[in-house]
Amino acid sequence: MDKPAVTSVPLHPLLAARWSPRALDPAFELDEQRFTALFEAARWAPSYGNTQPARFLAARRGEPMFDRIHGTLSRGNRGWAGAAAALAIGVAQTLGEDGEPLPYAAYGLGLAAENLVLQAVASDLVAHQMAGFDAEAARTEFEVPAGFDPLVAIAIGAPGDPAELPDRLRAAQRVFDSTGGLHAAGLFDSAGEPLVVREDVGRHNAVDKVLGWALLAQRVPLAGCVLMVSGRASFELVQKAAMAGVPLLAAVSAPSSLAVDLAAEQGMTLVGFLRGRSMNVYTGAERIVTKDIA
Ligand SMILES: Cc1cc2nc3c(=O)[nH]c(=O)nc-3n(C[C@H](O)[C@H](O)[C@H](O)COP(=O)(O)O)c2cc1C
Repeated sequence: MDKPAVTSVPLHPLLAARWSPRALDPAFELDEQRFTALFEAARWAPSYGNTQPARFLAARRGEPMFDRIHGTLSRGNRGWAGAAAALAIGVAQTLGEDGEPLPYAAYGLGLAAENLVLQAVASDLVAHQMAGFDAEAARTEFEVPAGFDPLVAIAIGAPGDPAELPDRLRAAQRVFDSTGGLHAAGLFDSAGEPLVVREDVGRHNAVDKVLGWALLAQRVPLAGCVLMVSGRASFELVQKAAMAGVPLLAAVSAPSSLAVDLAAEQGMTLVGFLRGRSMNVYTGAERIVTKDIA
């Protein structure tokens, strides 16, 4: 999906179209030419004294190195970035051959990374940069020598379907993955990007944590947001969502009849049994847009 930047004056379409989605298409495969073009673009970035300090470790999904890069990502990033068509780690050369510091090394890597990102957009791809990776693990895994610093990971791919919300809730739900016994609640924007995900042994507590976060962040009323909960949608959860101004509550399991009545009364959209691409819409169907699935 597109998410054009809202700007005070028109920008070049490449700049306006760039954004960092987490919903990536897990089936998309990146051809050799577009993959190579990313790093060729990075290579042509300006650098201090033409020192060219940017290096990239990179691989496409399906290659063993992709999994090795993926293994260095933080848990939160690992969840969604596995669907990337390619992963890269940006490394800055911080020391010259003479052992002296190379000035502006990180700056140079940043310029190269932005070239890469914009080339991705020009190739109908998206790129999402990540500080959330273990630089020391990357150093060990890829035997990065002293004088070179892994600074950023980058996921490149084709935009995915924001309808993958439940999976993405799971992906962000850290403790569930290790214990299998927790509830989660997540707040997503209308593009399906997670704003916050919280977990707790009680479904209500998970929702309270999410809405508490929104209150502290002064985001209430939560217009344009989706509240997604694991388990059932109860009357009380609809009440809480309504109080916070959430227009759409989605649950993995069934709603109670009282929950449906209250959602209808509040003009709220209530979705149940949201699993993969299927769902039941109990109220407020006008907020749901369907599109043909090829
Ligand atoms: C150096 C850097 C590190 C980032 N680290 C992460 C990260 O670890 N995880 C993540 O989801 N996004 C990360 N981001 C993406 C930013 O959150 C994102 O670019 C920012 O929210 C702006 O959104 P936009 O790119 O869609 O305009 C990072 C971006 C940069 C430039």
